[in-house]
Amino acid sequence: MNEKLSSLPSPYALTTDNTELVFVKKDALWRVAHYGERSNVAADAVLLTECRYNAESFGRATLETYPSFGADYGDNDGQMGMCKYGAIQAQHADGNTTIQWRCADAWLAADEEGVEHVVFDLEDTTRPFRARQHFRAVKAADVIETWVELEHDEPAPVRLSIMDSFGLDFANIGTEFEVLSVCGQWACEAVQDSTRLARGQRIDLGSRSGVRDAWENNPAVMVSLGCPLDEDRGTVFAGALAWPGAWEISVQHTLHHTLRVRAGAANLSGAYVLDAGKRLTLPKFIFTYSTQGMGGASRALHRWARGWHLPHGKVVRDVLLNSWEGAYFDFTEKTLTDMMDGTAKLGGELFVIDDGWFGRGAHARNDDTCGLGDWIWNEEKLPKGLAYLVKEANARGLKLGLWFEPEMANTASDLAEAHPDWIIREKNRPLRVGRGKSQVVLDMSNPAVRDAIFDQVDAVIRSANGLSYIKWDANADFMNAGSTYLDADHQANIWFDYTVGVMELIARLRVAHPEIVYQACSSGGAHADYGWLAYADEFWGSDNSCAQQRVFIQWGEELFYPACCVASHVTVSPNHQTHRTSPLKFRFDVAFSGRLGFELHPKGMTEEEIRFCTDAVESYKRLRTTIQQGDLYRLVSPYKNDHAALMFVSADRRKAVVCVYGMARLAMQGNPAPLHLRGLYPNLRYRITEINKAAESHIGPLEGKAFGGDALMTQGLPFTLGNEDDSLVLELTAE
Ligand code: DGJ
Repeated sequence: MNEKLSSLPSPYALTTDNTELVFVKKDALWRVAHYGERSNVAADAVLLTECRYNAESFGRATLETYPSFGADYGDNDGQMGMCKYGAIQAQHADGNTTIQWRCADAWLAADEEGVEHVVFDLEDTTRPFRARQHFRAVKAADVIETWVELEHDEPAPVRLSIMDSFGLDFANIGTEFEVLSVCGQWACEAVQDSTRLARGQRIDLGSRSGVRDAWENNPAVMVSLGCPLDEDRGTVFAGALAWPGAWEISVQHTLHHTLRVRAGAANLSGAYVLDAGKRLTLPKFIFTYSTQGMGGASRALHRWARGWHLPHGKVVRDVLLNSWEGAYFDFTEKTLTDMMDGTAKLGGELFVIDDGWFGRGAHARNDDTCGLGDWIWNEEKLPKGLAYLVKEANARGLKLGLWFEPEMANTASDLAEAHPDWIIREKNRPLRVGRGKSQVVLDMSNPAVRDAIFDQVDAVIRSANGLSYIKWDANADFMNAGSTYLDADHQANIWFDYTVGVMELIARLRVAHPEIVYQACSSGGAHADYGWLAYADEFWGSDNSCAQQRVFIQWGEELFYPACCVASHVTVSPNHQTHRTSPLKFRFDVAFSGRLGFELHPKGMTEEEIRFCTDAVESYKRLRTTIQQGDLYRLVSPYKNDHAALMFVSADRRKAVVCVYGMARLAMQGNPAPLHLRGLYPNLRYRITEINKAAESHIGPLEGKAFGGDALMTQGLPFTLGNEDDSLVLELTAE
């Protein structure tokens, strides 16, 4: 609990370095009068927003900080209205279905340096039902986090049919809105698309997986305010829901040009049943306001994630080699130690053993039909044990990582056979199964399940003494919607309680083993969300490792998530997913703009290929702070051009890395237009070097020369580019 510093004066501008969210008290409640650039116009904003000519005669904006279904719309010349766009709807113990909030207290809470924290204590006017709403402004990131805690003392449970974390209507914020989101599924994550929101229209985004929350849509959105969406120009609102379960975000352009945004967890089986005395903490929604287009919004979210959200956000990430595409399930100790030799030769720092090391006897995991849930070392396959492999890795100067899928079981496992009731399943209905015709989701709402999995994973970690990294996979959706742990009245809670349970499990493991770095994986990039990224340090971008397609996937992912989170691995050619061939340099350069790794057996590489990679890994290590921790500028979009270009600029703006990828280029079409660099100091001179060179230079006579930041940004940098699959990486160093 944060200590109260003072009561909130009205109006109050909650500020970040460049933005403000202005609250004003009106009768018993607080409203939002303004969100946008920091302006010192709080008092005027109140008048302008509250003016009755701005209030709509038959459908006025719901400006309260947490609009509730059934609340008074207030007075409109003696006529009263009722709010039907509540971010919360509850059926109380006595059957009533409305909430009328009054604010019992509004206060400033103590928080860490550089963060301002406002709290509204809301209570229903007639029933003992309460909400505590938080707005936490992270000044240097220009990001505001908001979340709500609910509780009540009613004589019976309260049923929540809407329980959004965020529900603000922004008046006077623009008259034209374009909404951008990313959607996807296996092997085609983060496909970017946008559309103009016509007056009256509402767009609903969501994921109903229950587990793979970044499929269908990713829980994040950008909206241009009063202008078309642009990478560099114009104002943009961006928000992300930190929730690794089922969710919904909706954005509406009302008749009166109010922008109505709602975001929250989705409880798909019906209303969430909240018992008296229990506190329900709804997921965080994170939002920002940019005057530098989408690029500014991305950079703000990235800065916030690295500085205030990710567990090891400021730590540079190791170069790793993962065993999956190089061996799949088919490995012995020798295979693994050979891969370690190769990893060390390539300059890697971490070796990760993927799926296939666990389960015993009939349930030994040699394919995907069995073993999940049995987190015990397969001594038949790997007789010397995990401790031996840790030692072997360490002897080569490497750390060791291991794959788990803790939320899942196969029906063919010791765990599921002993505890069939630990599976998410419906009473008196056949059990649906997924991958390997036997994969099921464990009931993480049940503390006994969490304890059992914790004990197993914890024991494996302890047995190895020195495990450094866990890849936490999750390869199934909810295929059944029931719990044998929850009683009949609470069955619908499984969607929410599962997610809370799984977060509790990973949080517990993090506390027990704080040194371990976690990769979120969910059939590829389906766990790219800030809920899971409060516990995981990075996510596997996609099982689609085809470099041409990865350019798009990473482009979409890095709209909302920083490059340090996006695991990107060099794999073999032809690619295993698309069967496409592409040069090693292109595959490497694409992986270079994320958290670089490999996913192949190095024994298949020629000496020349190894030499190229070793040099390029060295360059990556020299530049990784800039890539992983720097500001991202998207220069040329692959969606609209025959090549893509992006650059990373270090915090002190003295170092930059530029990556250019040839996409579906026509032969003989000449060179692309000069690259207009961004984010540099105009009056500094930057020396340019091409790195990861395979053959000819792409900048010829410019190589090694220094140019003013102003010239590079206004005039641009000319370069050559061959056909598709050609690429270049430039290093810029200020003199
Ligand atoms: C799905 C992941 O996305 C892959 O990288 C790999 O870990 C497999 N699961 C293993 O079963």
